[in-house]
Amino acid sequence: MDQSAVSVETLANADAVARRAAREILASAARAIAARGRFRIVLAGGTTPLAAYGDLVGGDAGWDAWEVYFGDERCLPPDDAGRNSLAAARALLGRVRMAPHQIHPIPAELGPELAAAAYARTIEPALPFDLVLLGMGEDGHTASLFPGRVMAADALVVPVREAPKPPPERVSLTPRALAACREMLVLVTGAAKRQAFSAWRNGEDLPIARVARAGRARVLVDREAAGE
Ligand code: 6PG
Repeated sequence: MDQSAVSVETLANADAVARRAAREILASAARAIAARGRFRIVLAGGTTPLAAYGDLVGGDAGWDAWEVYFGDERCLPPDDAGRNSLAAARALLGRVRMAPHQIHPIPAELGPELAAAAYARTIEPALPFDLVLLGMGEDGHTASLFPGRVMAADALVVPVREAPKPPPERVSLTPRALAACREMLVLVTGAAKRQAFSAWRNGEDLPIARVARAGRARVLVDREAAGE
């Protein structure tokens, strides 16, 4: 792990990571809104961030200045429980005062290629993001960037097929798009992530390692994932 670019803080457990992440998100929002009158955030998919999203509800985060994007999406119908956009709506976006035009889901129901092309057009004018949130998979993937896959250097959004984590068809922001941010926060919790986190720490060239280095990420990890 490139300690010069990535900072790591180990917290007691997943709840502590969620609470701290919520505080960091609110602080990032306040900085962005004070400076630019808006807060452009990229939400992470998966389950790890959902507790943090829930901890945001009830806070006065300047919701009407938020512009919400997604780091990746599964190619499923918009109302499918596996959609990251639906999980985020249930945990946060549907529970705070935010108008539909503030939320930019990836149109993954169009299929990988069409959705990737459309979303690249959506995010290009929004760069740089103020905050990018990311999780990490048990194999060291992040967003839907998986180990061993060629990562398009110049694209902003890529189609993903035959993903090792179901569903097989996805859409993902690339390292270039994810790193186009003022701040990046990576959340890693649970014993299942221990091996990948250790490999990352030991310098393995994993997707999370590349993205976190490029984004000068802050990493919040719990003791279980850190192997402490
Ligand atoms: C996805 C996510 C993915 C996720 C990691 C961790 O669509 O699956 O974007 O990158 O962040 O797989 O998932 P958990 O937080 O559920 O462990």
